[in-house]
Amino acid sequence: MSIKPIGVGLIGSGAISYTYLDNMVHRFDILNVIGCSDIIEERSKSRAEEFGIKQMTSEEIFADPDIQIVVNTTYPKSHYAVTKAALEAGKHVQSEKMMAVTFEEAKELYDLAKSKNLRFGCAPDTFLGAGYQTCRKLIDDGYVGTPLAVNATIIRGYQPAFPVAMDPMPFIVGEGGTIPFDMGGYYIQAMQNLFGAVKRVSGFSQNREKIFSHPKNPQYKEVLKLDSPNFIQAALEFHCGVLGTLTACDSGFVTPEIPGMTVYGTDGVLICPDPNYYAGPVKLIRNGGKEYVTMPLTHGYSGEEVERGVDLSKLDAFRLNWQKSRRGIGVADMAWAITNNRPQRCSAEMALHTIEIIHGVKTASETGKYYEMTTRPEQPKALRPGFIGGAAEAVLDD
Ligand SMILES: NC(=O)c1ccc[n+]([C@@H]2O[C@H](COP(=O)([O-])OP(=O)(O)OC[C@H]3O[C@@H](n4cnc5c(N)ncnc54)[C@H](O)[C@@H]3O)[C@@H](O)[C@H]2O)c1
Repeated sequence: MSIKPIGVGLIGSGAISYTYLDNMVHRFDILNVIGCSDIIEERSKSRAEEFGIKQMTSEEIFADPDIQIVVNTTYPKSHYAVTKAALEAGKHVQSEKMMAVTFEEAKELYDLAKSKNLRFGCAPDTFLGAGYQTCRKLIDDGYVGTPLAVNATIIRGYQPAFPVAMDPMPFIVGEGGTIPFDMGGYYIQAMQNLFGAVKRVSGFSQNREKIFSHPKNPQYKEVLKLDSPNFIQAALEFHCGVLGTLTACDSGFVTPEIPGMTVYGTDGVLICPDPNYYAGPVKLIRNGGKEYVTMPLTHGYSGEEVERGVDLSKLDAFRLNWQKSRRGIGVADMAWAITNNRPQRCSAEMALHTIEIIHGVKTASETGKYYEMTTRPEQPKALRPGFIGGAAEAVLDD
């Protein structure tokens, strides 16, 4: 018996669509990518030619009975409208992060998907990669003892060389697109994979002025007032008892990010990889620092550098090739979840929780009170260990 592939249409043929299509077309037999669209026709035309799929309009994608899953890789301000239209057309949706700009819009989409009995999932899906599945296994197997705390920091400057309107990523200064929203989700979903849901949050948020500091940008030294917070300092209390912090800030200068997430337990410390990627060095410190080891990855699906055999301990996160990363495993997991009638890991519940956390920190900062979370997703089921590279498909068949 052979598997019946699930038809996929992609909407939003911009930068990250290359990575999605590369993985969805070449790595997963469960997916049959039929076509792609964009409001800028040349973009969908060029992606369609590159991957041997149909150039379509979004309306054609919605009307095509062979397409069951719509992958929404538009920019954040379009997520709500595109996902809503796809759900109304009866399609399952896997969206890029965040689900929407506001928590209210995200909740509306969530309720719509539920009322229509449709699957709805949302990136980041990086926690399904080798790096964070290895971390999950080490924690679940007791290598750090009882986990106590998790600390994460993402401080990163987006400094385009072009005017904002021409930049390939104009959304990065727009509503819902600043660093806490654009990058915070990687850390929050990775934390949920390790520790489950958050009970309440507190913290501070700021809308810092954005000053363009790239000398080639005609807006050099221009000051932009932002609609969205671009700096949050969050305190998180997980239901399991772990306490966490997240710093997410647009630093405003041209540097690679120094990503970091560290888990502290009663018996050890785990230095986790950059959750923007599917793998990276996982370091375990135990025995008062006498043991400090780069652990072997227990899982596959890692991204091209690791699959090429690059020495993990020498890997710099900011030198990883994002275009060759493994985005799209969340779509494959949804397709297997539909096929095997099981919950998908990269779920709408998890993504709704993620956006509620960021908005909750903003609310806490404004009110001076804790924000009690209203959502409580299940911790996603860990993937089975012991596979390498190409066997990701077999692991999702559970
Ligand atoms: N670029 C990255 O490195 C990266 C990495 C991971 C995730 N993401 C996420 O992926 C999403 C897209 O990012 P990107 O960098 O590819 O942005 P992009 O601006 O390059 O691409 C988005 C595309 O969506 C199209 N679009 C917008 N509204 C549309 C609509 N209503 N209907 C059809 N097409 C529409 C735009 O014309 C554009 O081509 C964002 O949510 C971003 O957070 C980006």
